[in-house]
Amino acid sequence: MALHLGDTAPDFEIDSTQGKIKFHDWIGDSWCFFFSHPADFTPVCTTEMGRTAQLAKEFEKRNTKPLGLSTDSVEEHNKWIADVNETQNTDLQFPIVADADKKISELYEMIHPGESSTAAVRSVYIIDPNKKIRLMMTYPMQVGRNFDEILRVIDALQVGDANGVVTPADWMPGRKVIIPPNVSNEEAQKKFPQGFEELKSYLRLTEVK
Ligand code: BEZ
Repeated sequence: MALHLGDTAPDFEIDSTQGKIKFHDWIGDSWCFFFSHPADFTPVCTTEMGRTAQLAKEFEKRNTKPLGLSTDSVEEHNKWIADVNETQNTDLQFPIVADADKKISELYEMIHPGESSTAAVRSVYIIDPNKKIRLMMTYPMQVGRNFDEILRVIDALQVGDANGVVTPADWMPGRKVIIPPNVSNEEAQKKFPQGFEELKSYLRLTEVK
């Protein structure tokens, strides 16, 4: 069954480098950055795992738990984590799911048979505390992800949820946000007492903390 934005993220139970994970229980009241990669002991993946580990404090600030996945075993993951820590100068603390039988990667459509029938592509799911899928992104095996963009989209979703706003192209925290078109000017005046700028009736900008 195809997954879509707004769907409840499928729940699962699986072994990881930090023991058995019951996905929804493990997410709890946090957000989740769930990401797959093709295989352990591969160069691009090593840098991605390292980057995620280096950004631990940034994910924590956003109440977001990273969860990695590849179709390898816990034993392989653990050996590889030592390499990640050594080469990327970090201390990887988040769990990596051991999906050797591909159950979870198939459930989350992380296997793209035209690319590989055994290895996952670079999928990203951002899941909110209600366990809803808020972002899906798929990168090719040959290209490492941009982790600034992953943090940026989590910021944008959280600012949007907290303030009832949406964010413009290339938005960065601290910049102006957009009042959605379904909010009337009268409602906007109440909701955004700080005021707003009306460039067009459908394009109104405001500032939020
Ligand atoms: C890598 O992570 O380096 C990689 C994995 C699969 C194909 C190509 C590169």
